[in-house]
Amino acid sequence: MLKAVILVGGPLKGTRFRPLSLDIPKPLFPVAGLPIIQHHIRACVSVKDLKEILLIGYYPAKDLTEFIQSMIQEYKINIRYLQEFMALGTAGGMYHFRDQIRSGNPEAFFVMNGDVCADFPLVEMLDFHKSRGQNALITVMATEATRQQACNYGCIVRDKETNEITHYVEKPSTFVSTLVNCGVYVFSLEIFQMMAEIFNRKNQEYYNCEDAMNGSAEESGRIRLEQEVLGPLAGTGRAFVMSTTKWWSQLKTAGSAIYANRHYLQLYKSLNPELLKTDTDAKTLPDVYIHPTAFVHATAVLGPNVTIAANATIGPGARIKESIVLEGAVIGEHSLVLHSIIGRRSQIGAWARVEGTPNDPNPNKPFAKMDNLPLFNNLGRLNPSITILGCSVSVPGEVVLLNSIVLPYKELTRSFKNEIIL
Ligand code: GDD
Ligand code: GTP
Repeated sequence: MLKAVILVGGPLKGTRFRPLSLDIPKPLFPVAGLPIIQHHIRACVSVKDLKEILLIGYYPAKDLTEFIQSMIQEYKINIRYLQEFMALGTAGGMYHFRDQIRSGNPEAFFVMNGDVCADFPLVEMLDFHKSRGQNALITVMATEATRQQACNYGCIVRDKETNEITHYVEKPSTFVSTLVNCGVYVFSLEIFQMMAEIFNRKNQEYYNCEDAMNGSAEESGRIRLEQEVLGPLAGTGRAFVMSTTKWWSQLKTAGSAIYANRHYLQLYKSLNPELLKTDTDAKTLPDVYIHPTAFVHATAVLGPNVTIAANATIGPGARIKESIVLEGAVIGEHSLVLHSIIGRRSQIGAWARVEGTPNDPNPNKPFAKMDNLPLFNNLGRLNPSITILGCSVSVPGEVVLLNSIVLPYKELTRSFKNEIIL
C-alpha cells in the first residue's frame, strides 16, 4: 500500500500569486480548468495501490472542505486535510502527523510540493526508489536548469553511476550544480526516525538555551525538509535522485499560471483528450478547454492555449489567446484578450483590448525555466507581465489595458498601461 502527502502551505505562502490568491487559496486556483492540486491528485490516483492522499497545510480547514469532498466523490479515494497549528516547515507537518502517515503501514509515501506543476513521473519514481533497496530513505525528482537559474532551487550533486546524492545545498549563493530539486519525493517510513532525532535535538537545544523564553519555541517545532533532512542525508548513501526530462515548472507568480495552463492543456491531449472536446461552434485553435457550462458565441475565436471556466460568457467576435478566463467572467463583443487572466465574475465591455506580455522561459537556452520576476525592476518600474484582473473587476468598452494588474472589485473608467490599479 502507498500514500501521498501534498504540502499545500497556508495563507502566509503564495503571496506572489496575488491578486489571484486573494479570493481563493492558491492551491485551489484553477489551471487548465482544474485546481492546481487536482493535477497532483490526478497523478496520485493513477498509481496502483495508492490508498490515501493527505493534504498538509495551515489554511483554515473550512477553506478546503468543499474541494476535498468533491475530490473524494470524483476519484473514490481517501483524501484528508491535516491542519498544522502554525507553519511547521516543509518537514515539520509531516513529522507532526507521522502517525496518520504511518497508519496502515504503507511501503512508501510520495511527498509533493503543492506549488509545482508537472507531468509527474510517480510510477517511475516508485520503481526507481524500490530498486535502490532497503537502505534508501528518500528519492528526489530532479531536473536540469541553467547555471544561472539553478541557484533559485535546491541544488543536487550526485554520483553518476549510483544516482546517490553526494551533496545538497538549498538555494546556494554560488554555483553548485545544474541538477535541481523539483519538490517531488518518495520516502520510506524509516525517515521518521531521522526526523525524530532532528526534532528532539532542536527541542533539547531550546530547553538548554539559558534564555529559553527568548529562544523561539516556534522555531524548535519547525523542520525544514531541504536544509535539515536532505542536506545531512547527502553523502550517507541513503538519498537518491531520479532526474527527468519531462515538463516541470514552479507555480510562484501569477504569470506562471499561463505557462502551466499551456502545458497542462498539452498533457490532456495525450492523457485525457476528452477534456479538450467542446461542443461550441466557435473557431478554436488548439489547445482550448471550455467548461461545459460556459457560453462561447459562434463567431468568437479562441486559442491557442485558452481555458474558459464554468459559467463564463464570451461574446460575438471576441478573440482570446494564451489566457485564462475564470468562472462567471464576461468578455464583451469584439474584445481582445491576450496573455491575460480574467478574474472570477469580471466584466469586459465591447471592443476593449486587454493584453499582457508573456514571461516564458528563454526558448534558445536549453533547460531554461521560467524566471519568477519581481513586480518591479531595479529602476522601480513595473516589469512587463501578463495582465491580471482580480475578481469582479469591470472594464468598460473601447479601452486598452496593457501589462497591468487590477485588484478585485475595481471599476475602471479609462485605459491603463503598465500600472497596478489598487
Ligand atoms: N504544510 C506546510 N507547512 N507546507 C509548507 C510549509 C509549511 O510550513 N512551508 C512551505 N510549505 C509548502 C509550500 O506551500 C510549497 O508547496 C512547498 O511546501 C515548498 O515550499 P517553499 O518554502 O515555498 O519552497 P520553494 O518552493 O521555494 O523551494 C522548494 O521547492 C523547489 C521546487 O519547486 C525546495 O524544495 C527547493 O529545493 C525546490 O527546488
Ligand atoms: P501573431 O499571430 O501572434 O504573430 O500576431 P497577430 O499579428 O496575428 O496578432 P496578435 O497577436 O496581436 O493578435 C492575435 C489575434 O487577435 C489575431 O488573430 C488578430 O486578428 C486578433 N486581434 C488583434 N487585435 C484585435 C482586436 O482589437 N479585436 C479583435 N476582435 N481581434 C483582434
